[in-house]
Amino acid sequence: MAGKLALHGGTAVRDRPWSDWPEFGAPEREALARVLDSRSWGGFPSPNTEAAAFEAEFGAYVGARHVALCANGTFSLTLTLQAARVSPGAEVVTTAYSFVGTPGAIVGAGCVPVFVDVDPDSYCIDPEQVEAAITPRTEALMPVHLACSMADLDRLGEIAERRGLLLVEDCAHAHGARWRDRGAGSVGDFGSFSMQSTKLLTAGEGGAVTTSDDVYAQRLHSLVNCGRKEPEYRDFPEQMLGHNLRITEWQAAVLRCQLERLPEQHARRTARIARFEDGVCDLPGFSTLPHDPRVTRRTAYQFILRYDARALSGVPRDTVIQALQAEGVRCFGQFYLPLNEDPLFSPDPHTNAAARAGADWSEQVYPVTRRAAYDEAIWLPHELFLGSDADVDDLLTALAKVHENAAELRDPAAAAPAAG
Ligand SMILES: Cc1ncc(COP(=O)(O)O)c(C=O)c1O
Repeated sequence: MAGKLALHGGTAVRDRPWSDWPEFGAPEREALARVLDSRSWGGFPSPNTEAAAFEAEFGAYVGARHVALCANGTFSLTLTLQAARVSPGAEVVTTAYSFVGTPGAIVGAGCVPVFVDVDPDSYCIDPEQVEAAITPRTEALMPVHLACSMADLDRLGEIAERRGLLLVEDCAHAHGARWRDRGAGSVGDFGSFSMQSTKLLTAGEGGAVTTSDDVYAQRLHSLVNCGRKEPEYRDFPEQMLGHNLRITEWQAAVLRCQLERLPEQHARRTARIARFEDGVCDLPGFSTLPHDPRVTRRTAYQFILRYDARALSGVPRDTVIQALQAEGVRCFGQFYLPLNEDPLFSPDPHTNAAARAGADWSEQVYPVTRRAAYDEAIWLPHELFLGSDADVDDLLTALAKVHENAAELRDPAAAAPAAG
């Protein structure tokens, strides 16, 4: 018997911290000192020395011919639509289950997001529903590789090609993931990455676009540099109004070191996750999302556990989250809401140009996304899987404890010892 729940006054399974994130050491210190000494700290000339080196290194890692670094993973998405010269007001079909940055970037490019529900096994956009969302105004598909899954790039690629649409992979969660042994971000026309603090590859903030198209790459480099057309990227006819989205040399230098660490970190997480999945299969009420064999390297920005309340006397997911948090487990339930219900994706016409132009998502309902967001998904951050086997065992112990105490969780009063 695992004992009384910490939520109800028992001793927590875990009182030690989990692994620190991000990891760093002498290489990052040396890289930062190198930038300091260079006195060339900014992004201009663009790309500057460290940025150009990282672009080459990350392109080789992903398997894309070009990389354009930029300020963050929201603008990197916007830039893809601008570089492909998607029409103002065009519709972009995307998932209903993601961070607000995904549709926000679409609006930022002057386009309209059209949401589609997710596949119950991957929580990524359901390709079977994509076609019904396409209209004569649709110009792009923007799937998100979510958490530890990848969107079905076979089906989406086939639809995009047949319907003449652009395919943009939002890889904010998927640095290093591979689809049929091709890097996430190298299969579609563009990949877009975030290097914000919590991500698998980080410099605190930052973004990157990958593409193997020479003209798109030139436009991307121009767009991040205020629309300038430097000699290395001026072989395209238009002059476009760009932005200053240049990344600093500090960030690029740190990213180079973090990229060196990434393969070993992947291997470490993969081993811990395998141990965790082995243990979870013995716990009623908790299961893992099925492995898609086409994902030849699975990464985990967050590991999603699927919860089934029927196996725990109907205890709601959010109560389970509270109990796990009390046991010392970092985890989240409403990590993302269905985007059309998320207050962050406000339809305020002052800030949301698509709403101003008449788009209205209020009547839409995405049942699988709602089930994931409100009832099923338990999000476990990747750093829980960067430590020792003992960390994994603590996670499993906490889950088992919650399972064993389900009746008390459902009805704390009934389980409390009689007074006096
Ligand atoms: C799926 C997804 N897309 C886009 C973004 C935006 O990235 P950034 O925070 O770097 O702007 C994020 C960030 O969390 C994300 O999770």
